[in-house]
This record gives sequence, C-alpha cells and structure tokens, in this order.
Amino acid sequence: MSWARAAGRALAALLLAASALSAALLASGDALERGPRGLDRKKHVELKMDQALLLIQNELLGTNLTVYWNSERCYRCLPQVLGSVSGPGKPGKPSVAPVAVSTQHSSILQLNDTLDEREVCRLTYKFGEFGNYSLLVKPVHNGVNETACELVVNKNPVDSNLPVYIALLVGLAVIIAVCFLRFLLSLDDFNNWISKAINSRETDRLINSELGSPSRAGLSGDDAQPEAWRPSVVPLRLRCVDTFRGLALILMVFVNYGGGKYWYFKHASWNGLTVADLVFPWFVFIMGSSIFLSMNSILQRGCSKFRLLRKIAWRSFLLICIGIIIVNPNYCLGPLSWDKVRIPGVLQRLGATYFVVAVLELLFAKPVPESCVSERRCPSLQDITSSWPQWLVILVLESIWLALTFFLPVPGCPTGYLGPGGIGDLGAYPNCTGGAAGYIDRLLLGHDHIYQHPSSTVLYHTTTAYDPESILGTINSIVMAFLGVQAGKILLYYKDQTKDILIRFTAWCCFLGLISVVLTKVSENEGFVPVNKNLWSISYVTTLSSFAFFILLVLYPIVDVKGLWTGSPFHYPGMNSILVYVGHEVFKNYFPFQWRLQDNQSHKEHLVQNLVATALWVLIAYVLYRKKVFWKI
Ligand SMILES: *[C@@H]1O[C@H](CO)[C@@H](O)[C@H](O)[C@H]1NC(C)=O
Ligand SMILES: *[C@@H]1O[C@H](CO)[C@@H](O)[C@H](O)[C@H]1NC(C)=O
Ligand SMILES: *[C@@H]1O[C@H](CO)[C@@H](O)[C@H](O)[C@H]1NC(C)=O
Ligand SMILES: *[C@@H]1O[C@H](CO)[C@@H](O)[C@H](O)[C@H]1NC(C)=O
Ligand SMILES: *[C@@H]1O[C@H](CO)[C@@H](O)[C@H](O)[C@H]1NC(C)=O
Repeated sequence: MSWARAAGRALAALLLAASALSAALLASGDALERGPRGLDRKKHVELKMDQALLLIQNELLGTNLTVYWNSERCYRCLPQVLGSVSGPGKPGKPSVAPVAVSTQHSSILQLNDTLDEREVCRLTYKFGEFGNYSLLVKPVHNGVNETACELVVNKNPVDSNLPVYIALLVGLAVIIAVCFLRFLLSLDDFNNWISKAINSRETDRLINSELGSPSRAGLSGDDAQPEAWRPSVVPLRLRCVDTFRGLALILMVFVNYGGGKYWYFKHASWNGLTVADLVFPWFVFIMGSSIFLSMNSILQRGCSKFRLLRKIAWRSFLLICIGIIIVNPNYCLGPLSWDKVRIPGVLQRLGATYFVVAVLELLFAKPVPESCVSERRCPSLQDITSSWPQWLVILVLESIWLALTFFLPVPGCPTGYLGPGGIGDLGAYPNCTGGAAGYIDRLLLGHDHIYQHPSSTVLYHTTTAYDPESILGTINSIVMAFLGVQAGKILLYYKDQTKDILIRFTAWCCFLGLISVVLTKVSENEGFVPVNKNLWSISYVTTLSSFAFFILLVLYPIVDVKGLWTGSPFHYPGMNSILVYVGHEVFKNYFPFQWRLQDNQSHKEHLVQNLVATALWVLIAYVLYRKKVFWKI
C-alpha cells in the first residue's frame, strides 16, 4: 500500500539477514579465538569472560608475597586479596601462582610482604581478555636491597570488542542498503525500467502507489504531519516522539537481555554513565512529553477532567500491578514466597511518575493560548510561564529530595552519604549502600521486598539490598518526566515555528548541561552530586534530559519537519511500548530470545543472541503495527 510499508518490510528482512550473517561471521571466527580455558586446568584457574591469566613468579628467597587487587574504576576501595605466592625453595627456581584478573578496567596490583606488610611493588595495568601474563618479582643486585617487578605478555589477549565493531559495521551496511533501496525507489527512470522489465499492470500499480505519498502514508491519523494538524480533530502525533521512545525502548530491550555481557552495556557499578544507564530516563522523559500532548488533545475534545482523572488513576494502578508481576518471576529460582516479593520496579516507577505528572498537568491544565494557535505567534516564554504552578510543585518536590538526601539522619551512616558502601570509602560504611535512599526503602518496604542484587554488588562487594527504583528516586523521575512535559509544550505552543522550537531545545540542552557541569564538576566521583543511576541523582536527571533535548533537536527537524527519515524501525516499538516492554520481560527465557550457547563465556555468542532477540522484538512490533494491534492501558 504505502511506501513506508515497503521500506519497513525491506528493513525487517534485512535485519534478519544481517543477524544471520553476523551469526555466521562470528561463528567462523570461533575456532581461532578459543581462549586458554581448558589448558590451565592443572593450575586450577578457570578463566571466565572478561578475565586474563596472570602468573605471579616470585624469585625473592624466603619472602612470601600477598597480592592485592583493585579496579581503577572502584572509587576509594579497599584492596582485595587476589592470592599469595610463597618464596622459592632454592634460587633460580621461582615459585609460581596463577591468578585470574579482571580485564574490564585497569587493575591496580599491589604486592606486599606477607610477614611485615612491607610493600614490594605496585603497578597499574589494563589486562586484555583471555591473555596470558607473567609478573616477575625478582631481586635487583645493585648494592641496595631492592626488588623489581616486570610484566611479561606470554600470550596476547583477544580483542573482546571485535564483535561489537562487526555488529556496528553490519548495522551501518544495513542502513546504507536501505537508503540505497529508497533512493532507487524514488527514481522515476528506475521505476519505468522495472515496470518495463516486468511489464505487468499489477506491478505498475503497486509501484505507483508505493510512491504515492511517502511522508503522509497514513495509519488512521497517526502519521499526521504538523502542518496537517487541525486543533480538536486529529490528535497531534509527532513521529519524533514515537521514534525517540522506540529508540530508548529498543536499547532497553538489548541491555536487559544482557547487551553481549559487555560492561558498557551493563549498568554502572555506582557513579558514572554507561549505555545501559541512558535508556530508562529517556523513556521517562518521552512519557512526560506524551502525557502533555495526549492530554491536551483529549481535553480539547471536551472530555471531563474527572473522567480523565479516573482514567489516569486506573492506568497507574495497572502499570504498578503489571510491574509487580513482572519483577517477581517464579521460574528458575523456584516458587516465590509472599515475604520475598519485590515491590519497586521499572513499571512501578513509571506508574507512580505517570500518576503524579499527569495529575499535576490535569489540575493546572490551561488551553494553549489563542495567540499561539491561530496567529502563530506565541510570547517567547509562554511555554514556561503558563505552567508556573507546576514548576512550583516540581521545585518543592526537588527540595524534598535534596533535603532527605543530604539531611536525613541514617543510623550508623554519615548524613548525606551518596556512596555505595561495601568496600567503597575504604570499607568504612559497609551497610550504608545508597545512604538515605536505601534507608527509606529498607524502612518503609523492608529489606526483603526490595532488589537484592544491585549493580554495586560486583565491584563494591555490597551485601545490603538496595533498589535502583527506590522511593526517593521516584521524585527525580517525576522531575525528569516534567522536563519531558516541557519539551511537549514547546512542540505544541510553537507548533509551526520550527526555528522557535529548535532554539528552545538548544537552550534547554545547554542550560541543563551547564547545571550538570556545575553539579558534577565534570568528574565521575568528585562532584557535589555525582551522576548516579542507582540514586537517580539530580545531576543524572539534568545530564540525561540535556541529552534528551539534544536528541529531539536532531530528530524533530529530520523526522517531522523535513521528513527525511520516517523513524523506522524505531517508531514501530515506540507506538507499542507497553507490549514490547512486558513481552520482552515475560519471554526473556524462551526460545528464540534465548538459547543454549556453545561457549557461555564468549561475548560474541552473547552479543549475537541479544541482537537477534532485540531484532525479533522490532520485527514483532512491526508486524503488530501492520495489523494495527496496539496495546494501550
Ligand atoms: C601461559 O604462559 C606460560 C609461559 O609461556 C605457559 O607456561 C603457560 O602454560 C601458559 N598458560 C596457559 C593457560 O596458556
Ligand atoms: C611462606 O609460606 C610457606 C607455605 O605457605 C611457609 O611454609 C613458610 O614458612 C612461609 N615463609 C615465611 C617467611 O613466612
Ligand atoms: C602494603 O604495604 C604498604 C606499605 O607497608 C601498606 O601501606 C599497605 O597498606 C599494604 N597493603 C595492604 C593491602 O595491606
Ligand atoms: C640486604 O639484605 C641482607 C639480608 O637481608 C642484609 O644482610 C644486607 O645488609 C642488606 N643490604 C643493604 C644494602 O641493605
Ligand atoms: C552490616 O550488616 C551485616 C549483616 O547484616 C552485619 O553482620 C555487620 O555487622 C554490619 N556491619 C556494620 C559495620 O554495621
């Protein structure tokens, strides 16, 4: 029927072909890249993913060494004992101890004399995955009793990022192929040539209609362009909003499925940003924009506020219920008991945020000023000044967050603590994970009803439960959603004034970026408020909303104004977000989203599996879009 449909179908086919191709490509490299696993069984060191073998060779007669390890990413952490090497029996025959070291970040190794805790040597090195290294500790005979440590590479590591590069290249190739295809389709000569070659009326008709109206290809008003928008008839559905939502959602699916088990596709241990930390706030942000855009059109249609309130409450309730069911899966771990049910979660957070922001907008909803609608002239700060009561509420909420975070006394912990606890802060506050945010959750919900494996358990060895979707953090997700509302207001108030919209997006992007710079002092750990996904700190919100405004700044002109890109394939999942989110969580462990890997410790296989699963969800979303199945709650 439409040109968009053909492009979408071609893209879906290409996606599948690409995943098959990359699977084949990666599988062929398999034989070459077998790590040292299996060979070192006699030494009792089984290398896992993201590890290297380090042989510590001690040549110091009569000196036993203790080896301490620390990751450079672990901020102010207590060194952990990695192993110990006894002194050699006789000179010239060093004793060797094999240890596995992490290769994700640079390692700080510290070798101390076991007897008197004298430091023998210290070095910082970035090991490579499945490499084989030796650390030679030997005496130097130059008059003084000194020792030298020398690192030798026995076997070069594999490049664990290679599969990511290949996947990126394949992705790029797909994009280029699709663009080329579209370009061909848009050439009249080419079409004539095809129709002549095939010489069939049917094809002719098909191709002509395919070319009919590319950017206006319609699905019951969903594709309405801004200029086709008539107030109170067609709801303003901006493609850039759907595209952005779909982009965040697809990244979220990929990351939740494991992201190839690369550290940068997993959540940061504590402070800092990884790819995985980007997606949830963007989703919240775009939810805010949609709340405003859809509420505005519903109110314009004359729906009563009370009915809308009931609908909002019901939706939030449904989101929270579905969320609780999803975060408490029964399989694998055996049946779950009521006293271990986790209460917070992603959908719960979304439900609560949705409720607060939607009610806030409903309470103070004002029609878009006449001057903005008819005369296409809107006073320059109208979008902000018209919502001053909402801003007031948001400022009060943010003050509550700041006050609780920095001034709530937490028993046994310093007031205003923002660290991970565990071995962080030199092990001074092991049970203080998350400071006030963690304390409030444990107090109100109970230790057993929150998330038991926060991302800090690995690097910071935390033992306390901590929920990344904490109650306190919900305040900041409300702020994030409200910034999204603001973006929606800009899009609606300055509807046909592209320049005004772009200026405002740029201004917000810079303003929020500046706040982030001040709050974090452009450092990961040393700022006033570090960027932190687990806490949803305010700097995290400002940084991510700055990025979000930037993305809208790019997407809006390309997708909605110029129509250079339809937003496919991202807008398919973007228009069916609840279904894709719930579906990917529920079917996580089912074939073909997951299968048994030949080598469980290979990034490559995990990456292929996760990419195929993600592509399948895009495909499912596309099929549902074609069939006009949308799950709305
Ligand atoms: C690592 O290298 C050392 C020295 O070349 C060698 O003796 C050892 O067998 C290697 N270990 C593995 C697991 O390849
Ligand atoms: C070093 O360790 C070995 C065995 O672990 C022990 O027998 C020896 O006494 C230790 N030597 C010193 C100097 O501590
Ligand atoms: C190793 O020795 C140094 C110097 O004596 C000491 O400062 C350090 O704390 C020791 N390291 C550990 C992990 O005990
Ligand atoms: C080196 O160590 C040996 C034995 O531990 C000692 O006898 C000698 O005096 C030391 N030399 C220096 C220069 O410290
Ligand atoms: C932290 O909690 C654990 C277990 O709940 C407890 O054994 C330990 O003593 C606590 N540590 C501190 C410093 O309070």
